[in-house]
Amino acid sequence: MESIEIKIDQLQESKPVKFTLGSEDVCVARIDDEVFAVADICSHAEASLSEGDIKDYKIECWLHGAEFDLRSGEVLTPPAFEAIETFAVVRDGDTVTISKKK
Ligand code: FES
Repeated sequence: MESIEIKIDQLQESKPVKFTLGSEDVCVARIDDEVFAVADICSHAEASLSEGDIKDYKIECWLHGAEFDLRSGEVLTPPAFEAIETFAVVRDGDTVTISKKK
C-alpha cells in the first residue's frame, strides 16, 4: 500500500505542510504531539489548504475562509459545503506514516 513516512521533526506546531501521496496532495498538520492528514485541496475552489491557518483543531482555507475539522474532514464554515478526505496517521516514535484510509 502506498504511504508517506515522515519524521515528526519535519512538522512544526500548527504549520501545515504539503506532501504527495501517489497522485494526491496531502496537508499534514501537527498539533502538540498529534498529527493529522487531510486532502490538501479545499472542497470549495481548489486552493491549497497547507497554505491556510490552523486554530484549535481547525484549518482555515486562505482563499475564502472555509474551515474544516482536521480530525474528521468535516466542513465547519461556508463557503465550502463538502467535507474533505482524511488520511490514516500512524505514529511510531518519531516516525509518522500516512496512508489512504481503507
Ligand atoms: Fe477554500 Fe474557497 S477555495 S474557501
